[in-house]
Amino acid sequence: MIRSKCSCHHHLLVLVMVVLWISPRYASAEDEHAKDFYIIYLGDRPDNTEETIKTHINLLSSLNISQEEAKERKVYSYTKAFNAFAAKLSPHEAKKMMEMEEVVSVSRNQYRKLHTTKSWDFVGLPLTAKRHLKAERDVIIGVLDTGITPDSESFLDHGLGPPPAKWKGSCGPYKNFTGCNNKIIGAKYFKHDGNVPAGEVRSPIDIDGHGTHTSSTVAGVLVANASLYGIANGTARGAVPSARLAMYKVCWARSGCADMDILAGFEAAIHDGVEIISISIGGPIADYSSDSISVGSFHAMRKGILTVASAGNDGPSSGTVTNHEPWILTVAASGIDRTFKSKIDLGNGKSFSGMGISMFSPKAKSYPLVSGVDAAKNTDDKYLARYCFSDSLDRKKVKGKVMVCRMGGGGVESTIKSYGGAGAIIVSDQYLDNAQIFMAPATSVNSSVGDIIYRYINSTRSASAVIQKTRQVTIPAPFVASFSSRGPNPGSIRLLKPDIAAPGIDILAAFTLKRSLTGLDGDTQFSKFTILSGTSMACPHVAGVAAYVKSFHPDWTPAAIKSAIITSGNSRQVLVKLKAEKAVIIYLFVTQQNR
Ligand SMILES: *[C@@H]1O[C@H](CO)[C@@H](O)[C@H](O)[C@H]1NC(C)=O
Ligand SMILES: *[C@@H]1O[C@H](CO)[C@@H](O)[C@H](O)[C@H]1NC(C)=O
Ligand SMILES: *[C@@H]1O[C@H](CO)[C@@H](O)[C@H](O)[C@H]1NC(C)=O
Ligand SMILES: *[C@@H]1O[C@H](CO)[C@@H](O)[C@H](O)[C@H]1NC(C)=O
Ligand SMILES: *[C@@H]1O[C@H](CO)[C@@H](O)[C@H](O)[C@H]1NC(C)=O
Ligand SMILES: *[C@@H]1O[C@H](CO)[C@@H](O)[C@H](O)[C@H]1NC(C)=O
Repeated sequence: MIRSKCSCHHHLLVLVMVVLWISPRYASAEDEHAKDFYIIYLGDRPDNTEETIKTHINLLSSLNISQEEAKERKVYSYTKAFNAFAAKLSPHEAKKMMEMEEVVSVSRNQYRKLHTTKSWDFVGLPLTAKRHLKAERDVIIGVLDTGITPDSESFLDHGLGPPPAKWKGSCGPYKNFTGCNNKIIGAKYFKHDGNVPAGEVRSPIDIDGHGTHTSSTVAGVLVANASLYGIANGTARGAVPSARLAMYKVCWARSGCADMDILAGFEAAIHDGVEIISISIGGPIADYSSDSISVGSFHAMRKGILTVASAGNDGPSSGTVTNHEPWILTVAASGIDRTFKSKIDLGNGKSFSGMGISMFSPKAKSYPLVSGVDAAKNTDDKYLARYCFSDSLDRKKVKGKVMVCRMGGGGVESTIKSYGGAGAIIVSDQYLDNAQIFMAPATSVNSSVGDIIYRYINSTRSASAVIQKTRQVTIPAPFVASFSSRGPNPGSIRLLKPDIAAPGIDILAAFTLKRSLTGLDGDTQFSKFTILSGTSMACPHVAGVAAYVKSFHPDWTPAAIKSAIITSGNSRQVLVKLKAEKAVIIYLFVTQQNR
């Protein structure tokens, strides 16, 4: 998911943001001798679990620490799907561990980030598509994410029988989690650094919304009249509404997704018997044997489970694709033929259209229009006031005004609202191809429109403007999202990645009521469905298609499913023709990013 987008081209601006965003907690210098969590990977799944756990302790003890301390330092032994363990080590101990013969890799536990209605019709998987319902009910999709919202209508289990007999997973009971049903047949959480962040609970409940959104995109049931405050309305559904879901919560609000928890999620999913794994998480580019998603998905593949993963949101710079291992199906994001725009009416009669979702109807016909610089507290504050940073603005000069602000980070409209402003026009130098949701009247414009607005302000003593409520607009599609991470593949330059693109811009899917739509201070908007953008949203589209293919060909290997999806493409579209059942044609979009 794309959260606040920053304009990172200006060095000065970067400095400003570092000061504003980095809390002292992160700023403390790293102590050379400080211990950290490391993952020690030893290879294939062992035959004897108990013996292996002993081996883990013995390996740790060989660092000249007592058995008791070794037991204390170890946080995970992975034995069900592969052989590894996680433990607290000093950098020196980690190095010594790496020198041991039985050790394949040692990697420091890092934190990774989280990278509808209409999109299914757009890609050509209509409601009326031929289905193999009996087999679809037997397909189990594991989602590694922020948790799930069991009370969401998207996860009702009407008409579904008990889980397939092969299922070995489980589900609580957990506090704050109403429990599983025949749709969500498994739910687990993994949090082993011990610190559950404020607002979180030890349960697979989703208080972020991301995991609910991705899960409902893969396999949500039909929900009629779903919308975000009436926009993007229609019937929400996943690719395979009859398939089963298992949630492995490995990401936590604020603290992110720890490698050792991701590995534990993979281990559980493989052991429980999922058939497809959807993971919309990515992080620093690492090598094959030390990346948790790489190792987890490799062992999944060996068990016949296909992992579908998001390519990352670090585009459009080249060489930014993550989750690029050959055994992963790596998904980029493309746009569909719908976007969300707000009209800006200036006092001089001119109108422009801004990008983003603002569900507020203006109360007045127009408001005084002021640029951030002109609302600065002091002369010294003028530079920062361009970006409407809260400390630089004079509250009195903002009250009742529509402000024009340069994009300097997320949440400007929250500041403007808290100062009593009437709205914010945000001048962005980013590609404006996805609609951000605002918690107050606001919209984004590009710098050419921004310049016109600034010139208008300069040209008169009584500039005014109004931002209209957002409307849905039809646009040409498909196109590759600006933010979607690009090839070439940093892991293996000769291997084409991403593999495919799927809708990842402005996707409507289920959400949690435990978090406001923007998560910003003062946001009072809550909705059971919301619109999100990112390769995170594209990934479950392809995971769903993979499950759909699996429902027709339960015996196909991960490679066969992957091949069916990606190899039959031309430069614009991929055709998945399921040979036995000619009725079904699915269109997805091949990326043109690797040129
Ligand atoms: C092992 O630990 C003991 C006591 O903590 C210490 O005296 C000894 O030098 C250590 N040996 C090595 C090889 O580090
Ligand atoms: C968890 O449940 C407790 C007790 O019912 C409640 O006070 C708390 O707000 C809940 N937390 C979340 C995140 O839902
Ligand atoms: C559909 O949803 C909208 C907005 O949530 C609501 O106003 C309307 O009554 C709903 N219509 C039906 C038929 O449920
Ligand atoms: C969405 O809502 C509008 C206005 O209420 C209605 O005209 C339209 O038919 C709805 N579209 C869908 C797909 O339900
Ligand atoms: C800026 O936005 C306007 C209005 O949406 C559009 O017509 C124009 O082409 C855009 N300019 C650039 C350089 O993208
Ligand atoms: C508007 O006027 C200010 C000085 O009053 C000047 O610094 C700024 O460049 C002008 N902006 C435009 C777009 O003309």
